[in-house]
Amino acid sequence: MKKLKHTEALLKAEKFQQKMEKIAQNDYWRPQYHIAAPANWINDPNGFCFYKGEYHLFYQYHPYSSQWGPMHWGHVASKDLADWEHRPIALAPTDEYDKDGCFSGSAIENDGKLYLLYTGHVDLDNSNGGNDRIETQCLAVSDDGKHFEKVENNPVIKALPENLNIRTEHFRDPKVWKHGDYFYTVVGAQTKEETGQVVVYKSKDLYNWKFLNIMAASNDGENVGFMWECPNFAQIDDYEALIFSPQGVKPEGNKFLNVHQSGFFLGKMDYQTGVFAREGKFDILDYGFDFYAPQIMQDEKNNRCLMIAWLDMWESNMPEQENHWAGMMSIPRVLKVENNMIYSKPADELSKLHKSKVHHEQIIKEATSFDDVNGDCYQLDIDFDLEKAQGFILKLRVSNTEETVISYDKDTKIFKLNRDKSGCGVKGEREVSIEPVREKMNLQIFSDRSSLEIFINGGKRVLSSRIYPSKEAKGIVFIPNGNIKTNVDFYEI
Ligand code: FRU
Repeated sequence: MKKLKHTEALLKAEKFQQKMEKIAQNDYWRPQYHIAAPANWINDPNGFCFYKGEYHLFYQYHPYSSQWGPMHWGHVASKDLADWEHRPIALAPTDEYDKDGCFSGSAIENDGKLYLLYTGHVDLDNSNGGNDRIETQCLAVSDDGKHFEKVENNPVIKALPENLNIRTEHFRDPKVWKHGDYFYTVVGAQTKEETGQVVVYKSKDLYNWKFLNIMAASNDGENVGFMWECPNFAQIDDYEALIFSPQGVKPEGNKFLNVHQSGFFLGKMDYQTGVFAREGKFDILDYGFDFYAPQIMQDEKNNRCLMIAWLDMWESNMPEQENHWAGMMSIPRVLKVENNMIYSKPADELSKLHKSKVHHEQIIKEATSFDDVNGDCYQLDIDFDLEKAQGFILKLRVSNTEETVISYDKDTKIFKLNRDKSGCGVKGEREVSIEPVREKMNLQIFSDRSSLEIFINGGKRVLSSRIYPSKEAKGIVFIPNGNIKTNVDFYEI
């Protein structure tokens, strides 16, 4: 009966989506190579994994409108991280324990089956005070990677221990991994004083879980927000990291300007005690306007740690909502650690998307454009040699009235991204401090209709943002401050 209800809800959502898809797909701002739902609202990436020869990515999905609503899990799969195919919607909120949403979670293979561990969200009427929600952790399973059934004994993690400093209400976004003979899951949580923390559970079979410990928490007075959402334990080469998305970090100068952040602590996990010993300060993973809730996966086949994030931000304006869709994912990125920092680089597989290549090598002394370097879907790799220059301005998505402006100055060492004149709906500037490497600045830029992802100096710093230019805005203009030896590789996608 329950199973039937779930199957019916999935079919109903699927049907509605197919109807809306036709309208949404006509929108110019729809990404051409990034993951987005066929129509309507998406947020966090979920269940990023490799199963039966394919990468799988699920996402928070509201199939019935372009606004956030009762969360389903949408699903895409890819053999190569470059071309993604839509799969049937995987989860719908149909049971008493997830009736107001199948919130974020993760995926893992065991004994040939694919398991999804997610948060069941239930809204309570708290008009007389008290908790406004119940969040528990629930399990669904599939043996083909397409059709998922919720298990009988859900929720598999019901409650948090009450004798510790943990607020039981906010308890979500389990990310599961295997170490030795056991599965572990980290879950986002909050202290009773409303500061962020994460807890960890342990299991032999994914069905029976034992609370292990508070895995990491904010220190007294530390500016790391009031709730840590979407935590990930990541093994990055020989390093270990806790990657998470704290809500409510306060702005510090030109840092932490978005409403919520995504960042990391490096450190070391103690599997006996369940404590992650933090080393160093909280740092963010992306300095743009739109990057949240990243999820990692350990790509064992290629021995690397991959990451995909939601390329949007809570509370920001999303003009595409009028056109019956909202939100997209970042490109897949590969993580590495250097100088106590997490670098993220585009996955090499994206080169499969290249349709054509143009190369220019030139000393630029004044504003310059190339006839064959312009567009709205591309990868643009640039080396600027600043030995004889003070800095540069690079204008993207340029028309007579629109432009998105990137700039760098050698004295201040500040790199800026300005979208005041980008087009519709969004404005503002983000900046990050970064040194040239032997007088050189390297940029790798991915443009896709309504997004830009800018990787600087091998992914040491990244800025990702949505922009909403008109389709005429395809120009690219290089403006040097001095003489710049410039190397440009332009790939149409
Ligand atoms: C993060 C988040 C998660 C939650 C999901 C709900 O963006 O708030 O904590 O599971 O979105 O859609």
